[in-house]
Amino acid sequence: MKIGALKERAENEARVAMTPDSALALQKLGYDCLIEAGAGKAAGFSDDAYRTAGVTVAESAAALSSQADVIAKVRPPESAELAELGPGKTLISFFYPAQNSALLEEAKARGVNVIAMDMVPRISRAQKMDALSSMANIAGYRAVIEAGNNFGRFFTGQVTAAGKVPPAKVLVIGAGVAGLAAIGTATSLGAITYAFDVRPEVAEQIESMGAEFVFLDFKENQQDGAATGGYAAPSSPEFREKQLEKFRELAPQIDIVITTALIPGRDAPKLWTADMVAMMKPGSVIIDLAAERGGNCDLTVADQKIVSENGVTVIGYTDFPSRMAAQSSTLYSTNIRHMMTDLTPAKDGVVVHNMEDDVIRGATVTKEGEITFPPPPPKIKAIAAQKPKEKVKELTAEEKRAKESAAFKAQAKNQAILLAAGTALLLLVGAYAPASFMSHFVVFVLACFIGFQVIWNVSHSLHTPLMAVTNAISGIVILGALLQVGSGNWLVVILAALSVLVATINIVGGFLVTRRMLAMFQKS
Ligand code: NAI
Repeated sequence: MKIGALKERAENEARVAMTPDSALALQKLGYDCLIEAGAGKAAGFSDDAYRTAGVTVAESAAALSSQADVIAKVRPPESAELAELGPGKTLISFFYPAQNSALLEEAKARGVNVIAMDMVPRISRAQKMDALSSMANIAGYRAVIEAGNNFGRFFTGQVTAAGKVPPAKVLVIGAGVAGLAAIGTATSLGAITYAFDVRPEVAEQIESMGAEFVFLDFKENQQDGAATGGYAAPSSPEFREKQLEKFRELAPQIDIVITTALIPGRDAPKLWTADMVAMMKPGSVIIDLAAERGGNCDLTVADQKIVSENGVTVIGYTDFPSRMAAQSSTLYSTNIRHMMTDLTPAKDGVVVHNMEDDVIRGATVTKEGEITFPPPPPKIKAIAAQKPKEKVKELTAEEKRAKESAAFKAQAKNQAILLAAGTALLLLVGAYAPASFMSHFVVFVLACFIGFQVIWNVSHSLHTPLMAVTNAISGIVILGALLQVGSGNWLVVILAALSVLVATINIVGGFLVTRRMLAMFQKS
């Protein structure tokens, strides 16, 4: 079968759905690859680069659509693009079926099988195909870069000969993929970063990225992401009021606000109101990533940069991923390639559209002249369905003492049982064995007992020095065994040979483990 990528028709859209690298991977799946002439130019991939990767360059969209069985795109198709696709062809692109019902009907009428990349369910197995996350990650990063471009100061605090510079304060609202990427970028640039989300389970992620979670003391702050496929549910008016109150408190000290709050299928909630903008210092910047859905900020105008009366810049660009087209095309085409891998189980260049597969089912919105949207909920729980960790209860001094004494008693009991068993064994063997054997045997049993006690009680962090000690002991064992190997008794020779073997395994194994551990700390 043939897979082809069309040139994007939307104005200012620089991304492309296939790169030379992804084409090489698709060819390994058994597909012949096509690209429309000039499709990758804006993202930095020339037609020649595609040709070198074994891709056929089609002169027009019509020529490509007539030849290819699978057509890949970034943006939802225009009507004219759909018209060029015949029944049985598969289209893979962003589609937003909930907002594009007319387009959905058209695809159905034309018998085109549409796989919407924006409908890939957020389950662990589908992460490699999650194009929305790939794009949101870029948008979050780019939002901070764009903010820096419009902010007249450093992100990081500095003490210079010319004076002290305070660090910028950044507030990220909504800590999904875009929000977390923005937090990571802002903290790595040295800003003091705060973040808020209605899902309490992300507090840990926010903190692990170096930001401070803006805590809201409100009972409802307990949304369960699992119930809504990893997304937030709309909050109550009381909760919203409390949230706005907190933001009003923060507004005068925050320099940069990045808003990413969104619930799929709904308009963006208004969270940064006009009075909050008025409270901000001149020169502050707001980047509203939810601009396409009305914006989280009252003043946002989609695709525009405006400056408020008090000098706050409000940016509502909706094409951040396209502004980093080389990066976003690389990630998006990789997402498509992974989708194709799932659609080609035999790696023979033939699409198997398996509707029993959770991911393929979720993403398919039309198939064989039927609309298959909305899909049933995925059988597997969403990735974000993590319960917040319960806090470990602090013990009082008395409770600690009681716990330690119980542990000591249990350990003493185990040791008494072990000693009793060892003594019984010695007495039993001593009744039959010769005296010369017994003296060695007693030493052996004692060595086992003491060795076990010593090693078992060593904490994990001391296992490396312990390994060094056991290697030294192994060296002594080998020396002893070599001295015994010359004795005439065949039993002694066998035992000595065995000792040499086991001790050698211990020493060589120790070296191998140490090498691996050292390699973990070496930069490649
Ligand atoms: P996401 O669904 O992973 O994250 C949204 C986050 O907002 C969730 O963590 C959710 O809990 C939170 N949220 C929802 N309602 C909230 C509220 N009232 N208060 C606080 N937090 C709330 O979405 P993702 O993938 O991170 O995308 C974020 C936004 O970025 C979306 O609006 C998306 O459309 C947009 N985006 C914009 C681009 C651009 O160029 N402007 C490009 C890519 C994505």
